[in-house]
Amino acid sequence: MENLQFARHRRLRRSENLRSMVRETFLRKEDLIYPLFIVEGENIKNPVASMPGVYHISLDLLKEELTEVVGLGIKSIILFGVPAEKNELGTEAYNANGIVQKATRLAKELFPELVVVADTCLCQYTSHGHCGIVENGQIQNDPTLDLLAKTAVSQAEAGADIIAPSNMMDGFVAAIRKGLDDAGYTDIPIMSYAVKYSSSFYGPFRDAAHSTPQFGDRKTYQMDPANRREAMREAQSDIEEGADFLIVKPALSYLDIIREVKDGFDAPVVAYNVSGEYSMIKAAAQNGWIDEQSIVMEKLTSMKRAGADLIITYFAKDVANWLS
Ligand code: PBG
Repeated sequence: MENLQFARHRRLRRSENLRSMVRETFLRKEDLIYPLFIVEGENIKNPVASMPGVYHISLDLLKEELTEVVGLGIKSIILFGVPAEKNELGTEAYNANGIVQKATRLAKELFPELVVVADTCLCQYTSHGHCGIVENGQIQNDPTLDLLAKTAVSQAEAGADIIAPSNMMDGFVAAIRKGLDDAGYTDIPIMSYAVKYSSSFYGPFRDAAHSTPQFGDRKTYQMDPANRREAMREAQSDIEEGADFLIVKPALSYLDIIREVKDGFDAPVVAYNVSGEYSMIKAAAQNGWIDEQSIVMEKLTSMKRAGADLIITYFAKDVANWLS
């Protein structure tokens, strides 16, 4: 073994203190955005079967939930509404007294500092479960834009701090920016689901949000998982239209895309750690096949290493707990 030349990487791994000194990536409570599913009714806290630890919560129980969330040091939530009624045009999405609007008002009244993000989409509110207006079996792009702008404005009126449109119609950022500006909400940022793939990882969410399309799929508006360059075109157009944050969704199978978006644009990048990614870990952990805490921390740290500034995750409360 004499005269062998090689690098001694292990020198910097000799103790936990030393490893912590050379660590490059950190997960912080400030990075987390916690999703909540709000339902009409009273005294409801129903578990979502496919997402252990996730609940449908009614407004009267929101205070208890938010007290816990805020107490854990989480700075931001994203609200999804599960309305009592759906129709062709998804009118509950832009009803001033819709479920998200009511939840937003209440959350801001209870915790003014909490950053409330409103998901802006129609699929939970339309009877057909698509994210846009349907005519002759086709999802109509341009007529949908008005409804999205109306939805965003009503969410801003209710006090939402950030508007997060997830519908993937072309021009949605431009339409929502104009809608917000015309209504005087020039200071409300748009967190655009800029790069949203047509993914099978959304399955459990659609159970939770009751938003499964009643016919066909979302492939004419959400992206083909095989495409990388297209992600850059989507991000580019959203930035040009006025997006303040860029979401990449899902996260786990798309770490390469997170990195490219991060390198290509200066806006904060948000990884959406989606429902299927959550459920897979929960299921394996419940079977005793993996160690949940270390897997979750590894996974979310990897998203940050890939370039995510923020992470929307159903694990937010667990992570905040572990970080304490
Ligand atoms: C609504 C929306 C979806 C998700 C967030 N907003 C579902 C979809 O596009 O079908 C998925 C979130 C998740 O899976 O955790 N458009």
